[in-house]
Amino acid sequence: MEFKTIIEPFRIKVVEPIRHTTRAEREVAIKEAGYNTFLLKAEDVLIDLLTDSGTGAMSSEQWAGMMRGDESYAGARSFYRFETAVNNITNLKHVIPTHQGRAAERILFGTVLKPSDIVPNNTHFDTTRANVENRGAIALDIPIPEGKQPSLIHPFKGNIDLEALEKVIVDNPGKVPLAMITVTNNSGGGQPVSMANIRAASEICKRHGIPLFLDACRFAENSWFIKMREDGYANKTPMEIAQEIFSYVDGATMSAKKDGMANIGGFLALNNDDWAQACKNKLILTEGFPTYGGLAGYDLEAIAVGLNEALEEDYLRYRTRSVAYLGDILTKNNIPIVQPPGGHAIYLDAKAMLPHIPQEQYPAWALSLVLYVVGGVRSVEIGSVMFGLQPDGSEKPSAMELVRLAFPRRMYTQSHVDYLAEVLLHVSDIRDQISGVKIVESPPVLRHFTARFEPVNGKLLGK
Ligand code: F0G
Repeated sequence: MEFKTIIEPFRIKVVEPIRHTTRAEREVAIKEAGYNTFLLKAEDVLIDLLTDSGTGAMSSEQWAGMMRGDESYAGARSFYRFETAVNNITNLKHVIPTHQGRAAERILFGTVLKPSDIVPNNTHFDTTRANVENRGAIALDIPIPEGKQPSLIHPFKGNIDLEALEKVIVDNPGKVPLAMITVTNNSGGGQPVSMANIRAASEICKRHGIPLFLDACRFAENSWFIKMREDGYANKTPMEIAQEIFSYVDGATMSAKKDGMANIGGFLALNNDDWAQACKNKLILTEGFPTYGGLAGYDLEAIAVGLNEALEEDYLRYRTRSVAYLGDILTKNNIPIVQPPGGHAIYLDAKAMLPHIPQEQYPAWALSLVLYVVGGVRSVEIGSVMFGLQPDGSEKPSAMELVRLAFPRRMYTQSHVDYLAEVLLHVSDIRDQISGVKIVESPPVLRHFTARFEPVNGKLLGK
């Protein structure tokens, strides 16, 4: 390449204004939201990094696809275009559309899990864990030990612990109906899983007759990291790498709101005919007929186009670079983050950044609140609020206390990131003044979405 600057590989056709608020306005807004960023009004947020899920900008081709949407109840052309796009990447036999990833999870687990079954996974995402536990089954996280050390540099920190995988299968005969690998490992810092690891996990599962499923939300970003970091893949296209990944699995759940580049949608894809039939029956009950699964025909079109756009090299280069760009600035300024930066987000290490706040006072939650109050930036805690509450009602501190700054796809430009860096550097300067929080109201499951909080000593900032 002639020049080294990596640019946004698109130009902007439609713009949506974002709104500046004053710090005083944000202080009121966060208090009214029960000190929970999920309960803020989006218009009170300047830079919204709550999630990369369904928040991206669609391309002109996707919008054109939407106009072609065939809204027939059954057998719509849009379904076949969707099925072909999914098939081309996954080569999995049955493709079942769902309204988003968690619907695929609920339908799969509702079909194949019994109480006290065990599902091993590198790390379950919150909805995946909740859907496993909703069946009375156990969601077992077995990342490699390196994956739990935020500052450690390792090319594939998302890898599943292969020894632990084999052990759980051998020690629990008849109790492991499937194993899963999440690419990239979202809860573990957006870290990729290597092809060698997926291949080896697949061999272990095959040897024991256990189907291996992929939580494929960010399969394209994972494919890019394999291309960049794993021997033998530099000359392969992201599509070829993705196809190889899927060749090792028996099924996949997917949220098309991530690497499907769509605002809504997902799918369950699998080879087992009996499971597929049972899943389709469940789908009809709550989602819809198997050729639309709760989606409009135009959604299926947007996903069919988006899955391929997510695998374009220019896009993946720009996407991973824009995340790493923020990571580089923070690292240079000694702000602790999960290293190396993942594919879709920067994860601040709140345990390292706020050692004065004990885990029972949710340091990552507190940090995320301060980012909002100081800079109008919305992020999400991935720590003890999200994962600390156990199914038996007890509280166990999470291994890591992270604040995720997730990048919506094709949404923000470099100056947004520069602003963000400025906010983060300022918050880092005043980190000693940040106080912990306590929960004052909480639902029984997935509490982070709706719980209400208060700063432990009445103020978020200042003694
Ligand atoms: N699996 C992973 C790894 C995810 O990151 C998500 C969603 C899901 C499954 C569920 O998909 O939202 O379409 O039902 N993650 C979003 C996030 C919400 O913010 O990381 P969904």
